[in-house]
Amino acid sequence: METAQLTKLIRNRRSIRAWQDKPVPEELLMQAVELATWAPNGANAQLWYFYIILDKNTIKAIADAAQAGRDNMASWPEMAQFGGFPRPASVPQGASAPAAPRRMPLGDAPAMILVGAKKRENPMDKVLSERAKVDEKAAEMLQWSSILNPRIQSVSAGIAYLLLVLHQIGLGATWMTGPLAQSKGDVEKILKVPEGMDIVALIPVGYPADNPTGQRRPVNEVCEVIK
Ligand SMILES: Cc1cc2nc3c(=O)[nH]c(=O)nc-3n(C[C@H](O)[C@H](O)[C@H](O)COP(=O)(O)O)c2cc1C
Repeated sequence: METAQLTKLIRNRRSIRAWQDKPVPEELLMQAVELATWAPNGANAQLWYFYIILDKNTIKAIADAAQAGRDNMASWPEMAQFGGFPRPASVPQGASAPAAPRRMPLGDAPAMILVGAKKRENPMDKVLSERAKVDEKAAEMLQWSSILNPRIQSVSAGIAYLLLVLHQIGLGATWMTGPLAQSKGDVEKILKVPEGMDIVALIPVGYPADNPTGQRRPVNEVCEVIK
């Protein structure tokens, strides 16, 4: 692949939140997931796991669980007190801003990929937890360990690859954690996710019915060269 083609692929991928009513071939999704597993990942432990969901009832059950969780949270008085769910950055803020949509379009997705991260005990964390009781430096290192979180970084690398491949094969998807924030446990029950795994991302997928534009900060705002 020429650099120009790679540049185009990366720049033109957008989060897609509206889909054509057209089934997504299983083989395409399997192919995309297989390629995603070539992402770099901590110690090549390959802690990711992908649920490809094509069954409409399961998609609906997940969408309903996410909506129920959101509705429940929306009803808390604390939500009114602290301003409710945040709006996406691209939506104008303030009194004239349109009301945030009540219903997430997840149930309309022709397919979903739910991404799991297998749990793995890190012996170094055991060392740090024990040592942190008597050593401030170890306590600090224990905090760093949770910030560095190689498990989530690794699975995230796989998701980033997955989204690029989906885009390359003409599919539109959005990497989502929001819907899981209030429904992770319910979604895991629906999928019968085993004890040793967490669902960490929900990715609705389909043929795009939307062509959003993207925006990024200039690179010199987010990068510095030290020489
Ligand atoms: C970790 C993560 C969580 C995200 N969660 C959501 C989400 O819950 N809902 C949503 O609509 N988009 C979600 N997104 C998509 C981002 O909003 C999107 O990537 C960003 O606005 C940039 O737009 P682009 O992907 O079109 O370039 C998430 C993205 C990431 C990486």
